[in-house]
Amino acid sequence: MLTDNRLLIGKGETEAYILPEMANRHGLIAGATGTGKTITLKVMAESFSDLGVPVFLADVKGDLSGCCKSGEMTDKIAKRLEGIGLDPASFAMRRYPVRFWDVYGEGGHPVRTTVSEMGAELLARLLNLSDVQSGVLSIAFRVADDNGWLLTDLKDLRAMVAYITEHAAELLQEYGNISKQSAGAIQRALLQLEDAGGSRFFGEPAIELSDWMQTDEDGRGYINVFHCAKLYQSPLLYSTFMLWLLAELFEELPEVGDLDKPKLVFFFDEAHLLFSDASKALKSKVEQVVKLIRSKGVGVYFISQQPSDLPDPVLAQLSNRVQHALRAYTPAEQKAIKTAAATFRPNPAFRTEDALTELGTGEALVSFLDAKGRPSIVERCTILPPQSMMGMIDDERRKSEIMADTLYGKYDDAVDNESAYEILTGKAKAEAQEKEEAAAREAEEKERARQEKEEAKERERQEKEDRRTQAQKEKDALREKAKRKTKTTSPFAKAASSAASSVGREVGKSLYRGLLGTLKKFI
Ligand SMILES: Nc1ncnc2c1ncn2[C@@H]1O[C@H](COP(=O)(O)OP(=O)(O)OP(=O)(O)O)[C@@H](O)[C@H]1O
Ligand SMILES: [Mg+2]
Repeated sequence: MLTDNRLLIGKGETEAYILPEMANRHGLIAGATGTGKTITLKVMAESFSDLGVPVFLADVKGDLSGCCKSGEMTDKIAKRLEGIGLDPASFAMRRYPVRFWDVYGEGGHPVRTTVSEMGAELLARLLNLSDVQSGVLSIAFRVADDNGWLLTDLKDLRAMVAYITEHAAELLQEYGNISKQSAGAIQRALLQLEDAGGSRFFGEPAIELSDWMQTDEDGRGYINVFHCAKLYQSPLLYSTFMLWLLAELFEELPEVGDLDKPKLVFFFDEAHLLFSDASKALKSKVEQVVKLIRSKGVGVYFISQQPSDLPDPVLAQLSNRVQHALRAYTPAEQKAIKTAAATFRPNPAFRTEDALTELGTGEALVSFLDAKGRPSIVERCTILPPQSMMGMIDDERRKSEIMADTLYGKYDDAVDNESAYEILTGKAKAEAQEKEEAAAREAEEKERARQEKEEAKERERQEKEDRRTQAQKEKDALREKAKRKTKTTSPFAKAASSAASSVGREVGKSLYRGLLGTLKKFI
């Protein structure tokens, strides 16, 4: 609830406010299951909306959808308000401007991004690739980038991986080794991702982040409810999507320093998933992004059961904290309570550690930053009830909300613009056609050569034949002459004529040609 331009979240001995100018210092909502985390998130989201700050929240169970309907004043809620010292009659129950989103396009407008935008690192995590395989994937991205080929969807990426495998030898010098096995493993992982519904996530029109940063006509910030009941079934897809969002916001938003209120507040439910299985490199990158995104006017609030679900460097940056009850059944849980208690500035009125296990539903230990940026002394608070409906809306209502939205139609139909797949298949087609043409040219050439050879042979045979006929004619003429001169022929002339006739028959052209002249001498 917004009072005096501050976000009133709960009340104990004193009122617990989040100061708008400190809201980008990030936050944590922790607590065992059923202790009130989601409702606290809702109360915060409503207050930000009233302040004119849009929020984006992951709705894992669907129980945040009720934000679009007015809440009901029940006896329970009235009692809670009275306990806090607020008059139920002046507590305004109301609906909030809500926009629904869903990767699968079922519970909200579809949310898509392109493979190029997601980048090799996050995709490698999503595909569960080894270091060597990730290296090959990076090459696919670099080659695509260097050529200006946009990787829109998974089909593009598959075509790209096939392309670099085929051209591995040419690419080796500039990009490094592309092993066939690694490329094969990537292709298999991509198929698995498609089977898991990953192809819904990649494509166009890709989400424009500015659509998550809008206010309605009354100046209230939109509550963007990201419906992820289904996406959450694939924890890796869910967490990668969230990490991408964070990275995308970080890359796209300009540096603004500390504003009087954030430009957008992000709530990550089931935040432990963001970091489980994350590589060291990825973890430190997320830590870096969380640290730097503050100066881009974005506040990030993590929701998880145990504070220890988050890496210490991230935890250290979460200054606005709401800690609901923790359970202490096992030695590990007892230790976790001690650790959680130690993160608060103690309140002399109670022992933090004891209070942590005694808190009731909708109660929490709270510490927010004061105007000087110092964490306040821990306060034991009753959290306010939300002003909108607790729980979920039915499908009918969701549908009508989606269709009434001014953004309806902008993202609903996927389009398949020209991208790497089309370029590469076009290129492959052109290459195949060129190959075909070259083969045809070669065959033609061969045929021509064969024909020429044949003709030459024929000519030679003909010449031989002509020569033979000519020789025969000459021989016959000589014989005729000799017959006529028989009585006067010398023994030498006889021998020469017989030699000429036998040599002429038996040996080839040159000899014949030579002999012809000689014989002519004797004629
Ligand atoms: N601030 C509150 N005002 C009114 N009722 C509350 C409040 N906090 C919790 N409750 C009641 O407690 C129930 C459980 O709270 P909530 O769903 O927020 O728990 P949770 O910690 O998110 O649980 P889970 O870990 O299962 O998601 C709510 O449905 C609501 O009835
Ligand atoms: Mg919850």
